[in-house]
Amino acid sequence: MAHWFRNTLLILGACYFDCRGEEAVDQQSGHVTALEGGLVTINCNYTTSRASPDLFWYIQQTRNSPQYVLRRDRYSEGSNSDEFKKRFDSRLNFTSSSVPLTIQRLQLSDSAVYYCALKPTVTTGYTAPLQKLFDSLI
Ligand SMILES: *[C@@H]1O[C@H](CO)[C@@H](O)[C@H](O)[C@H]1NC(C)=O
Ligand SMILES: *[C@@H]1O[C@H](CO)[C@@H](O)[C@H](O)[C@H]1NC(C)=O
Repeated sequence: MAHWFRNTLLILGACYFDCRGEEAVDQQSGHVTALEGGLVTINCNYTTSRASPDLFWYIQQTRNSPQYVLRRDRYSEGSNSDEFKKRFDSRLNFTSSSVPLTIQRLQLSDSAVYYCALKPTVTTGYTAPLQKLFDSLI
């Protein structure tokens, strides 16, 4: 593992679920690097005709299937998975149709691909470029 990577996290945001059309989420492509102990915000804009959309964030750590992190909606506080309660937060902004994920006190194990989705189910599988990037890190 390269020396510079020791205290640096690689955070990837990926578009998941219907990236085009009526129901869509839009995340910046590419990756963000962040420092251990720091804070990172991964944005996600969505498009939907539903008045009260449910937005979900998932994390996919190397070689694992995506795991549910949290759910947010317009009218309630939403909920977090037990494993991701303390340092992971998001606030759905209905006005700007966005649901940015914030991770505090970053740990190296937070290096991952983060998916934002409008629906509660994700299937496994990721795009080739992401897989490639993963492979170069391990
Ligand atoms: C989300 O929308 C805002 C405002 O239109 C824009 O500035 C931002 O770049 C968008 N972010 C993504 C990840 O598409
Ligand atoms: C939601 O987004 C709008 C438009 O970008 C912004 O003016 C507003 O401050 C945001 N609300 C919150 C609670 O962040």
